[in-house]
Amino acid sequence: MTDCEGDGSAGLTPLELYEKLTVQGDTVRALKSQKADKADIETAVKLLLALKVDYKKLTGQDYKAGCPPTNVEIPSDNGPASEEGDDLVNPWAVSTSSAKGVDYDKLIVRFGSSKIDQELVDRIERVSGQRAHRFLRRGIFFSHRDMHQVLDAYENKKSFYLYTGRGPSSEAMHVGHLIPFIFTKWLQDVFDIPLVIQLTDDEKYLWKDLTLEDCHRFAVENAKDIIACGFDVNKTFIFSDLDYMGSSPSFYRNVVKIQKHVTFNQVKGIFGFTDSDCIGKISFPAIQAAPSFSNSFPQIFNDRKDVMCLIPCAIDQDPYFRMTRDVAPRIGYPKPALLHSTFFPALQGAQTKMSASDANSSIFLTDTPKQIKTKVNKYAFSGGKDTIEEHRKYGGNTEVDVSFMYLTFFLDDDEQLEKIRQDYTSGALLTGELKKLLIETLQPMISAHQERRKQVTEDMVKQFMVPRKLDFNY
Ligand code: TRP
Repeated sequence: MTDCEGDGSAGLTPLELYEKLTVQGDTVRALKSQKADKADIETAVKLLLALKVDYKKLTGQDYKAGCPPTNVEIPSDNGPASEEGDDLVNPWAVSTSSAKGVDYDKLIVRFGSSKIDQELVDRIERVSGQRAHRFLRRGIFFSHRDMHQVLDAYENKKSFYLYTGRGPSSEAMHVGHLIPFIFTKWLQDVFDIPLVIQLTDDEKYLWKDLTLEDCHRFAVENAKDIIACGFDVNKTFIFSDLDYMGSSPSFYRNVVKIQKHVTFNQVKGIFGFTDSDCIGKISFPAIQAAPSFSNSFPQIFNDRKDVMCLIPCAIDQDPYFRMTRDVAPRIGYPKPALLHSTFFPALQGAQTKMSASDANSSIFLTDTPKQIKTKVNKYAFSGGKDTIEEHRKYGGNTEVDVSFMYLTFFLDDDEQLEKIRQDYTSGALLTGELKKLLIETLQPMISAHQERRKQVTEDMVKQFMVPRKLDFNY
């Protein structure tokens, strides 16, 4: 068994490996409950993860406690919860020990999703008739669930809709928050389809120390930044949960249906809730799931419940949609498809994502050209060498260099980016020069955003947020 070379699992049969995994899972749980030494827990978790990867390689299935391997090759949709493994990725926290950032290939295995490979990128180009967005060309959107089905249907003249969202935890948004919206806007344009955007002010109220009024106000303020991304008002519905939930019988009916078909045990497994979490948190996932079903929006879809939904989001939101995809068939709805993005790294390095609560870790949408320059020069983690002489001799490392990473997100010209990569790697381009290129890319981009946001009036916000019919021909 040559492709099964993890820690001590070579030569095992699927069943033997399964048993080994079960024992290792117990070990990890025991160590955790005894509050054992951190390093010991980490070692045990690493071994568990390696075994899981081997298991998937060997059987084509995700390891699930209580489900021994079967002969049929059905990759499981309901990957394990993300509390194990060296990279921590869940809706509330992202961290890794590697300066290169999260190991996204491992995440695909752990979550049981599929890689966005060149074939899929080519197919998206063929079906949409447009050159793929740089986020697709560069693997920033790197993982998916059921995207081929969406394209199959679209080719057969069956349209779909887009759903994405944002948790409005403050007025301040940073460039990382724009990634899903920039991409969603592109999808809306090339496929010419409707979009619903959920602002989970209720979620932020439940999780943070904020008042309901604050959360709702943040939702409206954030809506302005979202609108400034250029969405078409005739095809886009933006809603605050606090407003829409109470006004839409159809939406609430779906929430209740979902609530009835997911147990406490399941959400504990998926989200790690404990007995001391408030019941609002425990039932919230049903509210984030509901927009995945078209009859939550009868004003848009004329009560149809079978319009397919595609959700572009960062990979940390996947737990919500694993749950959604699990309940969908049980309540008679199609499963939503997904496109997952990587995280936008903090200025200080890719070990974690940008955080809105640390002003120095992020480039905010309100930053002045001068603030952008200072932050990049002062904080952007460099893959360059300590002295110019050394840098010229050995070159820089673009794999850990945050300025280079940001350019891969925002510099559209592939040739220019490749030249920068080569020059930095060879040492021809210095860190200061690389930073200057980034500053010159970010400054006009942020200024343009600020200009567009200024044009967004209260009246326009209302137009986007009123439940209404959208341009949509199914
Ligand atoms: N929970 C998300 C957040 O905190 C917000 C959200 C709601 C979302 N629905 C979504 C994100 C759908 C992506 C896709 O940011």
